[in-house]
Amino acid sequence: MAALIQRLSWLLAICVALVPSGIQAVDRSNFKTCSQSSFCKRMRDIPPGQSPYRALLETLELSNTRLTLQLINDNNKVRLLLELYRLQGNMTRLKINELKPLRPRFEVPDVLIADPPTEPLSLVSQDEGGVVLSLGSDARHVVVSAQPFRLDIVEGPRVLLSVNSRGLLAFEHQRPRKDTLSKISNTVSSMWDTIKNIFSSNNENDSEEGEVADDPENENDEKEEDQPDMWEETFKSHTDSKPNGPTAISIDFSLPAVEHVYGIPEHAENLKLKTTHGGDPYRLYNLDVFQYELNNPMALYGSVPVLLSHSPQRTMGIFWLNAAEMWVDISSKAVEKMDAAQTPSEVPLTDIHWISESGIIDVFIMLGPKPSDVFMQYTSLTGTQSFPPLSALGYHQCRWNYNDQEDVRNVDQGFDDHDIPYDFIWLDIEHTDGKRYFTWDPAHFPQPREMLQGLMDKRRKMVAIVDPHIKVDSGYKIHKEIHSKNLYVKNKDGGDYEGWCWPGTAGYPDFTNPDMRTWWASMFSYDQYEGSMENLYIWNDMNEPSVFNGPEVTMHKDALHGSWEHRDVHNLYGFYVQMATAEGLIQRSGGVERPFVLTRAFFAGSQRYGAVWTGDNAAEWSHLKISIPMCLSLGLVGISFCGADVGGFFKPPSAELLVRWYQTGAYQPFFRAHAHLDTPRREPWLFGPENTALIREAVRERYALLPYWYLLFYKANHTGQPVMRPLWVEYPEDAITFAIDDEFLLGDDLIVHPVTEEGSKGVTVYLPGNGGVWYDAHTFQRHVGGQNLYVPVTMSSIPVFQRGGSIIPRKNRVRRSSSCMENDPYTLYVALSPQGTAEGELYIDDGHTFNYQLQKQFIHRRFIFAESTFSSRNISPDSQFSTASWVERVFILGAHRPSSVTLKTSDGNVSSLEFDFDKATSVLTIHKPGVNVGADWILLLQ
Ligand SMILES: *[C@@H]1O[C@H](CO)[C@@H](O)[C@H](O)[C@H]1NC(C)=O
Ligand SMILES: *[C@@H]1O[C@H](CO)[C@@H](O)[C@H](O)[C@H]1NC(C)=O
Ligand SMILES: *[C@@H]1O[C@H](CO)[C@@H](O)[C@H](O)[C@H]1NC(C)=O
Ligand SMILES: *[C@@H]1O[C@H](CO)[C@@H](O)[C@H](O)[C@H]1NC(C)=O
Repeated sequence: MAALIQRLSWLLAICVALVPSGIQAVDRSNFKTCSQSSFCKRMRDIPPGQSPYRALLETLELSNTRLTLQLINDNNKVRLLLELYRLQGNMTRLKINELKPLRPRFEVPDVLIADPPTEPLSLVSQDEGGVVLSLGSDARHVVVSAQPFRLDIVEGPRVLLSVNSRGLLAFEHQRPRKDTLSKISNTVSSMWDTIKNIFSSNNENDSEEGEVADDPENENDEKEEDQPDMWEETFKSHTDSKPNGPTAISIDFSLPAVEHVYGIPEHAENLKLKTTHGGDPYRLYNLDVFQYELNNPMALYGSVPVLLSHSPQRTMGIFWLNAAEMWVDISSKAVEKMDAAQTPSEVPLTDIHWISESGIIDVFIMLGPKPSDVFMQYTSLTGTQSFPPLSALGYHQCRWNYNDQEDVRNVDQGFDDHDIPYDFIWLDIEHTDGKRYFTWDPAHFPQPREMLQGLMDKRRKMVAIVDPHIKVDSGYKIHKEIHSKNLYVKNKDGGDYEGWCWPGTAGYPDFTNPDMRTWWASMFSYDQYEGSMENLYIWNDMNEPSVFNGPEVTMHKDALHGSWEHRDVHNLYGFYVQMATAEGLIQRSGGVERPFVLTRAFFAGSQRYGAVWTGDNAAEWSHLKISIPMCLSLGLVGISFCGADVGGFFKPPSAELLVRWYQTGAYQPFFRAHAHLDTPRREPWLFGPENTALIREAVRERYALLPYWYLLFYKANHTGQPVMRPLWVEYPEDAITFAIDDEFLLGDDLIVHPVTEEGSKGVTVYLPGNGGVWYDAHTFQRHVGGQNLYVPVTMSSIPVFQRGGSIIPRKNRVRRSSSCMENDPYTLYVALSPQGTAEGELYIDDGHTFNYQLQKQFIHRRFIFAESTFSSRNISPDSQFSTASWVERVFILGAHRPSSVTLKTSDGNVSSLEFDFDKATSVLTIHKPGVNVGADWILLLQ
């Protein structure tokens, strides 16, 4: 839910200077382009090939694990301090800061899960040209060249990545404001005081500081300070006071042999990132964008500053740990290169130019070499996907708004009447008492506990929205306490920052403050959050933060979080809101229950706290289609629990679009339908019996596959591998897969190619893997890998293929919710490889607590089929859990007809089982093994 028509009218009422332009799509004039953002323009205007930076080799210091080296800008003599670390697991960390900053620069806290473990770094050689350092055994080195400064990571004779090879390193050192600029601002003297205060209170070394007090060659500074907008900048009606002046940073990375780069979400963009030459760079600045446009580099709700590069030889990643507004330019080209025989050939080269408004350069270079290595490397830094409650992987029914308890009851009953399973019904902002979060509208939701109990009786749950804008109202407990504890974000003059949002005038808690987060978490306890119960979970919306009357609909950059400006921390705000909320849900259960929290804004590491969705999309085919690359891009950078509003948030979908969206959403990690207040109702049974049946079937497919979804999330939690994957992740050498984003893998066993075109009669599915086979998950028809397959479709088709060589567990009985399926039997789908083998896993626990972690209460089994024998083995012998579920049926796809099927159990029982064999499809169906799924057992086909 979010930015809407009301907002527009508020804006018009509040901001006189706002000039509305075309309203059918995003109002682009509300958001800056690079040239309207002074730091972006300054950094983008740096001419390549003229780096003023030189490494001062005489300052080099090497401890066991850390190299430090000063860099000097020969134009202004300002020195920088470079730190280099070799990290465990094929990573290098590069930090660059001012050697003597006038005031400290922001370094992002709380995103790394720990100090990354380092490994020894050793000097291989050094001369006046530079130094060579070893990165361990396999001929991998860092080469630091002195003049101009550049850094290359090489492996044997190959350069893997270069830093500053184009000379775009820039570091706007802090400086006192020049008096000559006082004309443009009448607050200059107060700013001087501010600077001096910070200067003396934060830095006892001020006598030798200043820009370069100890260096005589300062003549270029005048020129540097001449540029407009460095000390104050106006966008539309908003002026950013920038009391600390210019602080931008920038550097370039070059990736030889690379032409495919991915990541840096969130953008409504294809999976493979485009060259930004001739347009704007990709922008990362968490913003509430009303009716966002597709295929453009504008910023959206969340930011993960991680870029992946991929070529058949290697996958790598660049993680730019910085929370300020940033822009990323990408350009790919072919360059001529001599091969060994001195014949020229064209090889690709991709250049990246990374720009941030403040903070420091803190870059993690992840060297792979395989995609799975990069995922492990990145999640070893920022954590893996949280392991959600099983129910959160079911279907979620949301709309803005379910009007009252009666409405909730009727919708809930509608699912039973139409035999459609669901787990969560959601309440948007209207459920509150006047947009005061943690409260209930007394007229429409007078008995929330009764309502929640009604859902609990059916083993279902609810999500209520809790947004971070707090109504300024002296009678509202939440506001009163945050205000009196002095925990609101401050405006530049030191008062509580106030902006307009849903409740009218609102304060914004300073979630960067641990005290604020602790207090917020405590508000979710059952005695504080009146009317809440253990089946009530939370949704954090508008946490970019959205400020209707703020610059670009967000917070003023000169607002203050303690001593830091909002400018420094902006992209972290939503991360902290979700962190505090998830912590609250854990605490209210005494640390027993796993939380579920959905967030709209996010940052690197947000995967640790729950799910994200792609914000306020629209009921258009193009939005359905873009949901695939948007979630794939998030999965590549750690955030697996992603979904898009099924049906599209704005506008009413046609019945066909709605059905196709359910069919797509059923195969995406977070599966929630949502709709704008002004759209007609669209519960699944409102489009005629045929469409109800189609939607029912899609939702049931989701529920049948829950055991597999749960396994994938368990593995994501343990190994960092994304749940929903681009094909190239599993077929890294198959260049055909590199730009595919209309189909995707779930784990490595299912390929899904949803129908995302209106009136489609068929889709062309690329089945990767030469020499392998795939089975249609519905018809069991077998297809060879390494081909484009045209698949005719009807309205009931969801093209899904199971990989030959895999075993997937399903639960095929239809129930009201996932909890009702707890003890249901399993059916195993054994899809044989051409060699007649298959493997798969099953993971089971109680579905909602941390006992799997704390007490090892789970079952984790491996199924293996080889030499006509199926076996089930315990792969975690020290774990303990029991289930009532048994094995109902085993399908073997690609089988031969056996003469008998024999079951052997661990206690020596031997029995022969009934089976059917379908010659036309080569499917062997084995009936009723009847064994407990947690036991050891064997099936022999003879
Ligand atoms: C590090 O790189 C080497 C060689 O490229 C590779 O064999 C190894 O698996 C990688 N290790 C990790 C943890 O990624
Ligand atoms: C002041 O300088 C000393 C010596 O260079 C250093 O150890 C200390 O951290 C500096 N203090 C500040 C606040 O920068
Ligand atoms: C899995 O996620 C949980 C949160 O649900 C987290 O506490 C835990 O550290 C994660 N496990 C791993 C292995 O990362
Ligand atoms: C083995 O057979 C006995 C007797 O029929 C039965 O009670 C027992 O449950 C069987 N064991 C298994 C693991 O099925």
